[in-house]
Amino acid sequence: MTSPQLAVVSNRLPVRLSKNDDGQWTLAQGAGGLVTAMAPVLRNRGGSWVGWNGLATEEDVSSLFETFSKQAGYELHPVQLTPEQEHGFYAGFSNEILWPLFHDLPTRCNFYKPDYWRHYRDVNQLFAETIAAKLPASTYCWVHDYHLMLVAGMLRKIDPTRRCGFFLHIPFPPPDNFLKLPWRKELLQALMEHELVAFHTLRDRRNFEACLQSLLPKTVIRGRGAIVQARYESRTVRIGAIPISIDYKSFTHTAGLPEIKEAAHSLADAYEHRTLILGVDRLDYTKGIPERLESLRLMLQQHPELREKISFIQVLVPSREDVGEYRHLKMEIEQLVGEINGQFATPGWSPIHYQYRNMPREELVSYYLAAHIMFVTPLRDGMNLVAKEYCACRRNNTGVLILSEFAGAAAQLQRDGAVLVNPFDVQGMANALQAACMMPIAEQKRRMQHMRETIRKHDIYFWCDTFLDTAFALKLADIPQMED
Ligand code: ADP
Ligand code: G6P
Repeated sequence: MTSPQLAVVSNRLPVRLSKNDDGQWTLAQGAGGLVTAMAPVLRNRGGSWVGWNGLATEEDVSSLFETFSKQAGYELHPVQLTPEQEHGFYAGFSNEILWPLFHDLPTRCNFYKPDYWRHYRDVNQLFAETIAAKLPASTYCWVHDYHLMLVAGMLRKIDPTRRCGFFLHIPFPPPDNFLKLPWRKELLQALMEHELVAFHTLRDRRNFEACLQSLLPKTVIRGRGAIVQARYESRTVRIGAIPISIDYKSFTHTAGLPEIKEAAHSLADAYEHRTLILGVDRLDYTKGIPERLESLRLMLQQHPELREKISFIQVLVPSREDVGEYRHLKMEIEQLVGEINGQFATPGWSPIHYQYRNMPREELVSYYLAAHIMFVTPLRDGMNLVAKEYCACRRNNTGVLILSEFAGAAAQLQRDGAVLVNPFDVQGMANALQAACMMPIAEQKRRMQHMRETIRKHDIYFWCDTFLDTAFALKLADIPQMED
């Protein structure tokens, strides 16, 4: 069966608009796992991308989007939100309710603003209307992430022939958490309006099935393996565990460029050839950054022999600064960094080097190349692409990945690969960090080789093909099952 035209539908377009020093609008690539994953897919296949233009402005910036579309080889269809919608739908319902709830942090949810749900519905309706107006009915709409769970149902009310699939880039919570959501049944029913609903891991998929069985008990689920089939009323929906990945070839290629290697050498020189420990995250409370810093403090207390021998570089990307929790977290992190540096610094050395900024991809790769240890400790994470990017860049197979057992990536990288840690166990993380500093090169190579091979085989194109093959297969038996 030939695949129809593809439209990616996500809250954000893969670009970020900002004003330069001359007051001119400019476009740059957006941050975050979803954009990093989907941009190469559309560049390769063509199609279109429907998303929020990220601006609360009335200014006409359509020509910028047109120029981008021409250069990128796929169309952008921007959706414009009012400031109230941005606040209620994006900062509010999506990031103050769904984000913490789905990351198993229900006490951080702000359930007490009834307007949030109204705005969430309105904006999902706006997306559905944009798709109906701009894209032919034969286009397959691949809807992404928690912001847009109602779009498929709303679109199918406008035109019942529309076909949609859904991928959730964050974890799906167990019933204990999902059932706390006042709008739980509407959201679950809306997800069942897709032909395929997919998650990163089997754990997420099982949580979703458990919620279906609890809230829509007439659902019948059959099948085994990564993809199963659920029947609910007149709908038959495929449900899958399809872990997302990265453009492995592109990262390995960049890591092999002479100028990138040169930049990595300069970094090693700048840090006087100490053991470099790296953290790279969006500034988010799910990433376990204070816990990570505390484990570093503990390690330096308990292992004075490692003082002046290591440098910890923490790069944080600014994120969701309009949400209060994120502003508070930034202050907390900066205070901790200051405290720990104050506690251990000696002339010419301080343990933590903190950077708060967006980084061009090439520079990021030079940091991955320079770092001996990648320290990835989210309290909960859908996948965590940074972990995979680091491995892809380690062309000589050295380097240690310390990875939270609560990142989706752990399911793929734990066997003889990453050093797994519990991010709530600060002493355990300190021990793992110290052990990583001491790990013999032969063991590093064995583990890294294994992880790189897994990521090479299951790259972003494999993920995309698996999703689309699953969406378009005529029978469940025709769906390719993933091996380990
Ligand atoms: P999340 O999706 O929660 O942000 P991921 O680790 O899955 O977490 O994805 C983060 C993406 O953002 C990665 O592709 C990474 O390369 C990119 N990124 C991380 N730090 C920076 C930075 N300082 N500047 C630009 N991009 C970054
Ligand atoms: C995660 C989410 C994405 C989101 C990204 C950046 O990766 O899964 O949907 O786009 O974070 O967050 P932001 O709120 O800036 O879009």
